[in-house]
Order: sequence, then C-alpha cells, then structure tokens
Amino acid sequence: VRDGNGIKGLVDSGLLEVPKIYIQPINERINKLETKPCDMPPIDLSKLNGKEHEKVVNEIVRAAETLGFFQVVNHCVPLELLESVKDSAHAFFNMPPEKKVVYRQNVSTSLKMRYQTIFAPEIENVLEWKDYINMVYSSDEDALQYWPNECKDVALEYLKLSSKIVKVILEILIGKLGVELDDSKIESLIGLKMVNMNYYPACPNPELTVGVGRHSDAGTITVLLQDGIGGLYVKAEDENDVGKVEWLEIPPIPGALVINVGDALEILSNGKYKSSEHRVMTTSNQSRVSVPLFTLPKFTEKIGPLPELVKKDGLAGYREVLWKDYMDNFYGVAHEGKKTLNFAK
Ligand code: SIN
Ligand code: FE2
Repeated sequence: VRDGNGIKGLVDSGLLEVPKIYIQPINERINKLETKPCDMPPIDLSKLNGKEHEKVVNEIVRAAETLGFFQVVNHCVPLELLESVKDSAHAFFNMPPEKKVVYRQNVSTSLKMRYQTIFAPEIENVLEWKDYINMVYSSDEDALQYWPNECKDVALEYLKLSSKIVKVILEILIGKLGVELDDSKIESLIGLKMVNMNYYPACPNPELTVGVGRHSDAGTITVLLQDGIGGLYVKAEDENDVGKVEWLEIPPIPGALVINVGDALEILSNGKYKSSEHRVMTTSNQSRVSVPLFTLPKFTEKIGPLPELVKKDGLAGYREVLWKDYMDNFYGVAHEGKKTLNFAK
C-alpha cells in the first residue's frame, strides 16, 4: 500500500473485506446514531458588500466562536472551477500506478508535491482509508513545474481564489478581537499555503474504518471543497445537554465551500475561535474526493496568543511556539483529536 496504487489499488484488486490494519477500535468508529446533520445555513459572502455587512460579519464570528466550521456561498470562486478541481482529483488518482508512483515521498525529489496514503507512517497502528496528494505552494513557476499535469492549473487557480476568501475572513475575525494587525502580519499568518487532494476509495466495510481519524487542522484557516457524497463530521456539544458530545455532519451543498478554524488561529485568539475536532467516514459504493486549501503561518513565525488579548483576558491559554516546531510535532503524531494543541500548552 505504501507505493504504487495506494488504497485505490487495493480496492481495484477486488477486495471484499478490508485488511485488519484498517479496522478501527470500536471507540474510533463513527456510529451514525451519534451524528446528525449540521443545520447552520451557509453564509452568503456577497452580502459583505451591502447593507447586511455587519450581520454577515457577526455570522462569521459566531460560527468561528462556536462550531469552528461554517459553509460559504457566493464566494467568488467560479463554480465551473470547483467542478474542474474535483474532476482533476479523480483524473490524478485514476492514473495507472506507474504514473503515480513517481510522486511517492521516497521516490520524488520534490517536497512540493507528495503522493501519500498514510498520514504518519512510522507510528500509526491502524491506517486511514484514504489516498492523497499534498501540493505546497512556493511560487507559480514551482507549482507548474512540480505539481502533476493532471491538476496543476486548476489547483493553482483554486489556491489563489480561495486564498482571497481566507484573507477576507481572517481580517474580519482578527478585527473583531479588537486587535489591529498590519497587512504584512496578516500575510505572514497565512504565508504557507498548500492544496491537498484527498481520495477516499469506496470501502467494503465503511462501518469499521475511517477516512480520516479525529484531528484538528494545524493552520490558520482551511477552505475545503467536498463533492456530493458527504462524510465529514465535526465534534460539537449538544446545545440542550451540556457535556453531551455529538458529531455534526457538514452536509454537501452544491457550490459551497467549507471554512474552518485551525490550531494557529485558536492559539492567536487565545481560545476565542475554535479549531474543532473532525473526522471523515468512508462510503461503500463510491469514491469521495475533497480538496482542502490549508493556510498556515510561515515556519519562522512565533505563534502565541495576541498580547492585547492576554492583557484583556488576564491570562494566556497557550504558550508561544515557533511555528516550525509546532508543525514538526503535528506531523509526528497520529490523528488523535485535539491533542496536537497540547504542544502549545
Ligand atoms: C480532513 O479534514 O482532513 C479532510 C476533510 C474531508 O475530506 O472532508
Ligand atoms: Fe482536517
């Protein structure tokens, strides 16, 4: 599984049952009975330009403070582009193994493009049911040189347009903290950008596996494009029964993008904005694709709660970390909920 054709290869070989290494312990399996659809309506970003500006700002802030996830529509990324992005993800993973294998980490000479199956190969005891590619942005030239032909043009366009959404939302969220950051500071908080293409092959035993285990995203803000299949669940507290956990499904909405807060923004906001735990369920009859744009601080940034907030709140909920150290830790531990945030405690 580590090379060649990933989990897709397993499925294509006609597998009737998942191998043992993919069977999750009972407490990590997603029990549909503990889930329900998230009924938060999508936020219309075009209204930021009109009379309802303040109302939309408040919707964004409220969503970031509570679930840490929301969906946006009328976001200026053309819907045809979103369709092409999903098509190109299928195009990449449908290539024959010999064309994909050159992008494996141990084969590829470039850290700007990696094709992987396992998140943290050295330490995972049970494996996730997912193949993915990770495309790191450094410049347009590098992207066009190193990213796969099957998806580089649309991925680059998606990265650029979605980055604009991130910038708008981040400025709103930081502004509402009552803190002023200049543009170069805001840029450095999203100075590292990468696009992943996730491919979750149809799984013969969806009830025993996970596509992605419980985790929070490391970065500042993530934009996620998902197809119509569904399966993304976010951990929330039952509003009517404090202490009771429920998993809300972020339902596919045609044309919408999912936005979520990452660890860096939770730290910066001194805990005001929530980097929520989430995970992905597999499906039995179709392969699902999702395409996140991750925006993260540059590795050289020191990330801690903004000093103005610490003063106002009277305490710092997190320590300051060098972002490179945070990411080294993040990539070094298997998915296990919000544990990665402990590194900043
Ligand atoms: C992830 O959070 O890692 C993936 C989300 C998704 O596939 O919907
Ligand atoms: Fe995630």
